[in-house]
Amino acid sequence: MKRIGMLTSGGDCQALNAAMRGVVKSLYNNCKDDLEIYGFLNGYKGLIYGDFKMLTGRDFSGILTIGGTILGSSRTPFKTIKEPDENGLDKVEAMKQNYYKLKLDCLVILGGNGTHKTANLLRQEGLNVITLPKTIDNDLYGTDMTFGFQSAVDLATSVIDCIHTTAASHGRIFVVEVMGHKVGYLTLNAGMAGGADIILIPEIPYDMDKIIEKVEQRMETGNRFTIIAVAEGAISKEDAKLSKKEYQKKLANSTYPSVSYEVADQIQKRTGHEVRVTVPGHMQRGGSPCPYDRVFASRLGAEAGKLILEGEYGFMVGYKNREIVKVPLEDVAGKLKMLDPDATIIQEAKMLGISFGD
Ligand code: F6P
Repeated sequence: MKRIGMLTSGGDCQALNAAMRGVVKSLYNNCKDDLEIYGFLNGYKGLIYGDFKMLTGRDFSGILTIGGTILGSSRTPFKTIKEPDENGLDKVEAMKQNYYKLKLDCLVILGGNGTHKTANLLRQEGLNVITLPKTIDNDLYGTDMTFGFQSAVDLATSVIDCIHTTAASHGRIFVVEVMGHKVGYLTLNAGMAGGADIILIPEIPYDMDKIIEKVEQRMETGNRFTIIAVAEGAISKEDAKLSKKEYQKKLANSTYPSVSYEVADQIQKRTGHEVRVTVPGHMQRGGSPCPYDRVFASRLGAEAGKLILEGEYGFMVGYKNREIVKVPLEDVAGKLKMLDPDATIIQEAKMLGISFGD
């Protein structure tokens, strides 16, 4: 008998179900032992409080194309994972006890950065863990690609496409705020795919003068509209000089809901042109995974199944140089993958005339 626990943790994204289906299908098709699948509900909470449901192959049928996660998800901050809960429960100990009580052979954990820190901790505590890289942000260290990312690029691009037509009709400047947390992968890709004129990402702090320059240059050359894709984590050159504490204080006292509104307000004041802001927000995490993500997540799931069958634990199944690879969890946890401001793709975008406000 093989007993596998599975959970999805952190912000959801497209293709979580496809990835879990991949794991389960590869196990059912290749495992000679009987299988028991324990689906822990709502992220690590399910493992902490022993909240799970038994699943069979049938539960994973028909979910390849469905967004969200059949197990539910939640954020369980790593920062407080070693602190007792409100009833004094030791969360790490509780997870271990549930793992041993159910006689699990391993845990399959699907998640992003925070999730990987806890997964690595569980590995250090002696549990068998395999992880799969999910996030629309594509900021997970050790893998070139995370599932969810391409679907979110598609969604953010279609928002920019829609904005394009109305911006052209009205001759307006539009700011589209794209998710991505502290990194710019999503904004860069959606911005380039949507033909944005200016792309602001956290890795390249912006100078408002340069943004104004680009907007005015477009107006002078007969372009009636300008599309600006702004990462939710974009930051000005001045703000980038502040300490983390000072910057957080600035944000707390700001009257702008987010950086896009600040950028829009400054452009409107300085150019006198109408500026509108669009924030698609969590839409970018929703809906059906795109074909790329369905295939990618299925492949990762299949490889995770293979590792389980071979009894190889302590790895994230990732993607490097066009190959599916196993990456030791200790090499992933606690590291952020950011865009290199000198990356070829950024140089190419600049050659296409896209301004990064630098
Ligand atoms: O990590 C995925 C993500 O969607 C980020 O892009 C965004 O900053 C964050 O999660 C939003 O988190 P929440 O769903 O908790 O509002």
